[in-house]
Amino acid sequence: MPTSDRAATAALSWLDENESASIQRLIDWLSIPSISTDPQYKVEVKRAAMWCAEQLRAAGITQVEVMPTGEPEGSGHPIVFAHHPGSPDYRGPHVLFYGHYDVQPVDPLNLWDSPPFQPEIKEAIPGGPGRRIVARGAVDDKGQVLMFIEALRAVRFATDKVAGGVKFTILIEGEEESGSVNLDRFVRDHKAALKDCDVCLISDTGMLARGKPAITYGVRGLAYTEVTLRGPDQDLHSGMWGGRVMNPNLALAKVLSKLHDENNRVTIPGFYDKVIPISADERAAWQRLAFDQTDALKKIGLPQSADWGEKGFAPLEREWARPTAEINGIWGGYIGAGAKTVIPSHASAKVSFRLVADQDPAQITQLFFDWIKARVAEIAPGFTVECSDLHGGLGVTLPTDSVHLQAASRAIKRACNVEPALIKTGGSIPVAGLLKSELGISTIFMGFGLDDDRVHSPNEKFEIECFRMGARSHALFIDELTRL
Ligand code: BES
Ligand code: MN
Ligand code: MN
Repeated sequence: MPTSDRAATAALSWLDENESASIQRLIDWLSIPSISTDPQYKVEVKRAAMWCAEQLRAAGITQVEVMPTGEPEGSGHPIVFAHHPGSPDYRGPHVLFYGHYDVQPVDPLNLWDSPPFQPEIKEAIPGGPGRRIVARGAVDDKGQVLMFIEALRAVRFATDKVAGGVKFTILIEGEEESGSVNLDRFVRDHKAALKDCDVCLISDTGMLARGKPAITYGVRGLAYTEVTLRGPDQDLHSGMWGGRVMNPNLALAKVLSKLHDENNRVTIPGFYDKVIPISADERAAWQRLAFDQTDALKKIGLPQSADWGEKGFAPLEREWARPTAEINGIWGGYIGAGAKTVIPSHASAKVSFRLVADQDPAQITQLFFDWIKARVAEIAPGFTVECSDLHGGLGVTLPTDSVHLQAASRAIKRACNVEPALIKTGGSIPVAGLLKSELGISTIFMGFGLDDDRVHSPNEKFEIECFRMGARSHALFIDELTRL
């Protein structure tokens, strides 16, 4: 057996034998409430960064820093930035590993079966989820980042070389869930260090299904906005004024109802101009994945008749390769207990767009703002609309024939005994577009989540079997890198 095969086997054995310690470390990390969007948790977010830095050091990486971000410095959440030069005989690519240690808010808290930051291991339910760890951040993304860190430990044990000798730069941020607003500047400021990287590895996506690992070769972009429609300069008695002025809630509902046409296409002029059509090959490949939309709808409590989306496209095509407009929240007027007869002075909505190549978030945001101003002028003359751009990020689609992706594919095949599927996702990971546009670096998304992991929801979970597959795949990916 070549040394490398023996080392790979030793790394996998190490992961098996140390699995309960690995899970215990995950429990420790998940106990830190690193909610990035809520300023109240700033100290906890930093604690989660320090914890992560400590784990990288424990895996043998010596150049590890917890760096402040934002303007003024420290106003953002820290980035864990680490580097390992690789061993002198290493000939493979310089890999940038990206992950995030921040998590989404936990509300509604009353829907959690156990407290979100007191991780619990729950046993498998026949016909349902397998043995799993339940906590906010379990799969998104601490559990998946830890698969990589545990793989680093395993290969170090097996090869006696830190990171198996692979040249790594590691960037683990604390603002992904709040739009990575300070990441652009960090990437620009550290361009010199980052542009030496050949490829980025991200473990923050999902598999095709339970037991069916996948490599994700594309994520959608995002443009996120908030709009406030202002009418009278005060709330009004609806008896005195009802029938004499337009109601801002009604005006906003009328405006937003025009976002889609009868084919469920977005009506904003120019919205589709830069959308790249789906190729016949891709269409055929996605059909072969035999995705079951009826079953997916059933899992979210809906019948087949609730299937909705842009006419002329299959569900996976709509999720992976078509842009959308969503109303994330809408509010205005009286929403307390009982009845209050009022015409509110204003109404607001959070409106976002999932984008596909080559749509530009800043441009789409501007098109939307122009569109909504024109609609308000038609529907509610004399009213004004305030528009704010909350954040945005480019989507990416990556080549599926790169040597790096093929190495990842071989690693997963060896780790899980099954060929990974090639999939895309409708979700967004802003860093991938940033790395592509700023530095020309492609990403490999090697994620092990499941559709029913309740990402961003109460009772978020990560199944132990998925963690295991992920840690093994990462260890063998490191092994594959040493063979390139
Ligand atoms: N890990 C997710 C992205 C994701 C979700 C990938 C589902 C694959 C499947 C990531 O943490 C996330 O939630 N991203 C946000 C974007 C961000 C700008 C708030 C998203 O997609 O809404
Ligand atoms: Mn994530
Ligand atoms: Mn997320």
